[in-house]
Amino acid sequence: MQLKIFQSEEELDLAAAYSVAQVIIEKPHAKIGLATGQTPIGLYEKLFQLFEKGQVSFKQATSYNIDEYVGLDRDHPQSFYSFMKTHLFSNVDFTEGHMHIPNGAAPDLEAEAKRYEDLLNEAGQLDVQILSIGLNGHIGFNEPGSTLQAETHVVTLTQDTRQANSKAFPSPSDVPKQAITMGLGAMMKARKIVFIAKGGAKAAILKQAFKGPIDPLVPGSLLQLHPNLEVYLDAKTATLIADER
Ligand code: PGA
Repeated sequence: MQLKIFQSEEELDLAAAYSVAQVIIEKPHAKIGLATGQTPIGLYEKLFQLFEKGQVSFKQATSYNIDEYVGLDRDHPQSFYSFMKTHLFSNVDFTEGHMHIPNGAAPDLEAEAKRYEDLLNEAGQLDVQILSIGLNGHIGFNEPGSTLQAETHVVTLTQDTRQANSKAFPSPSDVPKQAITMGLGAMMKARKIVFIAKGGAKAAILKQAFKGPIDPLVPGSLLQLHPNLEVYLDAKTATLIADER
């Protein structure tokens, strides 16, 4: 794991964006795994700036989002598709039809999870996967549990996760109870993982994930096994793991 610590979130976002952009510059038809949440918003802003300056184009790239809420249409304001549209898809030059995200409104969710997994298998290997971690250690919506699944699946969200994500919804009870998430298999197979955490609140869970044993109760700990993991942290978030480097 390559640990990169930054004094400001701005510097972190730019460095992480460069790392993602580098993949696309070297391989214009790159396959990119995308994540949602508060954490990657700055990285997407920086990618937009690099695109505006003509330094990177997404025209030939294909994206695969790691998760989506069950029960929300693509165009629902709180869907992850809408999030991606706001923060990246509308701002850069992806080709229509090249941005993939599970369909949380599919009538048959198991069939949808299989369709998405088949799509990932067709893609073969993602060139870069952007990831963050939940306060409870989840990666995507792979929640802590006694077993972790490798393939795309339907998941029941924990109360912690629904609470943590409630800020984006009018009220906490509006947060969907289920989601479709990529399993850890496709993420772990990616050529490179660009992992980001910032703001300080994730310091304790990061210590468990990156300094503790590999444990399905801390899904992020599986990332320790990835051969090309770049970890971008701000100083506040790195406090509990930086000393022990
Ligand atoms: P956050 O979510 O970026 O909004 O903290 C991250 C996650 O739940 O994986």
